Amino acid sequence: MISSTDNTSVSLNESEQNNHKENNQKETVEIRRIEAYETLSLRSTVLRPGQPESECVFPGDDEPTTFHFGALLNNNVIGIVSIFSQEHEKISSTRCFRIRAMATDPEYRHLGLGRKLLQAAEHHARQFGAEYLWANARTVAQDFYKKCGYDLDNTIFNIEDIGPHIWINKTLS
Ligand SMILES: CC(C)(COP(=O)(O)OP(=O)(O)OC[C@H]1O[C@@H](n2cnc3c(N)ncnc32)[C@H](O)[C@@H]1OP(=O)(O)O)[C@@H](O)C(=O)NCCC(=O)NCCS
Repeated sequence: MISSTDNTSVSLNESEQNNHKENNQKETVEIRRIEAYETLSLRSTVLRPGQPESECVFPGDDEPTTFHFGALLNNNVIGIVSIFSQEHEKISSTRCFRIRAMATDPEYRHLGLGRKLLQAAEHHARQFGAEYLWANARTVAQDFYKKCGYDLDNTIFNIEDIGPHIWINKTLS
């Protein structure tokens, strides 16, 4: 598994390193804010396969209240998540962020990167005064969100061309 070195970087252990590189140098994954354009490659390959990067730009990506986070290994983006300041009818507070475009490169899954990215987003949202995070989450990822402390709604709804989703949320303490 990944061990934390501080809030913004994680180290791959030896077996994980050997899966991904041939020498024994320690690899560190940096978790930090990135620009919207840096999310596009993973959005295109993981979340919208077959769609060009130009079609993976979301309305609001460049708003000052939108934040993007990346997991970077040797300057390559191997994980992403974005948060948008957006209310939801199920949340009475206006201090909400919506999570969008959460993805980890398939080569680096189940190493803890997704959780670290969410934690970075949650920390940032808290600093910004947010009380809640919410998302329309793919059902295939619902157990991931549950493990990361999110409450899951039972109702499944379909999003065209993407598939079944549920609503999830977390109260930021
Ligand atoms: C969902 C996703 C972002 C998870 O990323 P990840 O980097 O593998 O996540 P982590 O390693 O931090 O996982 C945290 C925990 O959730 C578990 N987990 C991760 N993905 C899971 C899944 N799809 N189903 C069930 N559990 C999962 C991990 O095993 C880990 O469990 P542990 O705490 O018991 O060790 C990644 O699988 C992905 O990109 N999926 C395709 C795109 C997608 O569906 N994105 C979500 C859109 S709503």
